[in-house]
Amino acid sequence: MKSEMNKKEKMVSAYNYDDISIEEKSIVLELLDLLKERKKLGVDLSIIIEEFKQKFKIEEIPQRPIENTLWDHYTKDVNLGQNIQGFKTITENDKKINIPVLCFSADIDTLNKFVAKILASKAWHLYKKVIWYIMQLVNNYYFFSSALSSEQCEKIINTGNKKIQELKNSGESTAAVTFGKTHKQGLSEKCDDVNSMDDKTLEEISKKTGKPSEEILKSSYIRDSEVCWLDDQWLYDLITPYVYEANKKANWRYDIDYGETFQFTKYGLNQFYGWHMDGGSDHYDKYKRAIPGITLKHNNSLYEKKYTENKNYIGKIRKLSVTINLTLPGEYEGGNLKFDYGPHFEGERFHECTQIRPQGSIIVFPSFQYHQVTPVTSGTRYSLVLWMLGPPFK
Ligand SMILES: [Fe+2]
Repeated sequence: MKSEMNKKEKMVSAYNYDDISIEEKSIVLELLDLLKERKKLGVDLSIIIEEFKQKFKIEEIPQRPIENTLWDHYTKDVNLGQNIQGFKTITENDKKINIPVLCFSADIDTLNKFVAKILASKAWHLYKKVIWYIMQLVNNYYFFSSALSSEQCEKIINTGNKKIQELKNSGESTAAVTFGKTHKQGLSEKCDDVNSMDDKTLEEISKKTGKPSEEILKSSYIRDSEVCWLDDQWLYDLITPYVYEANKKANWRYDIDYGETFQFTKYGLNQFYGWHMDGGSDHYDKYKRAIPGITLKHNNSLYEKKYTENKNYIGKIRKLSVTINLTLPGEYEGGNLKFDYGPHFEGERFHECTQIRPQGSIIVFPSFQYHQVTPVTSGTRYSLVLWMLGPPFK
């Protein structure tokens, strides 16, 4: 009995009058009194409404009917769950009109067909008005400014440089250079009339240089840097708590359970990493088991992409990417981390992540986000990269 009393008290106190002003409250009370009085006299509701409109100067804004709109034309055969979420009031020919704001849901296949239908009919007007929330994020990345101390950064740089030197001494390659991808950026000297910092597609470069796409593809490269791999336990202990924190705070809440080996990267003068994504999100991008002696290897003795002997990688994809700037901001120029949020992103598509500049800053982002490191124009940029793995999105 006592608990029921408490419940009731709670319900009463939960009602909040603060969302209407004192002036509005007096109007509401006056309306209610008038309504009660007219009801007692048996006055018809339509007459009461008319009286209210005149007395309180209520402006009725007409609603644009959904029927016979372009929207209705394109959606009537599509199995969309949709409802009116509210209204936007606009002025047309000096008259106010309420435009319904629609929210809808459907499975991905249905949405794909719907988009194809709009694109085929060139209904750009409608296309621009439909906002897609498929793998779109509220937080495109998360950052921790100067999370690592100068001493910690120095220690990582020394460890990485030592490893690079050891590899070189033993005749192994530390160069990470990748040629020819569809989403490329840097160009070799054959096409040096295009600035490698331009945000351009192959087609745009073809147009600018007058060279065919295939030639551009052959002479373009997306990456030029020196790398080595670090698997020191102290690095995992230091970095992974930040990744889990970002995963929670940014509300991605991805299922992640294992960190790949750290990649230490050194970008010298003119070195860069063009537009790329670190990993696809679906089952195609899962790590597969490499069979020693049978699975093909590249000439740098690494397995073909996505093959590994590490059983902790198999069946997983890269979910979150982590990049840490180890260098003092004054010690290099260029080398900016940039994101491409895609052509449908509301707002600025290309974004420079300035938060990475302070030494020891950690940036965490979903691995499907396109990003790049622009060419270093002076000095050397050292960074540490980690990919957190988990099962593909389901
Ligand atoms: Fe990357």
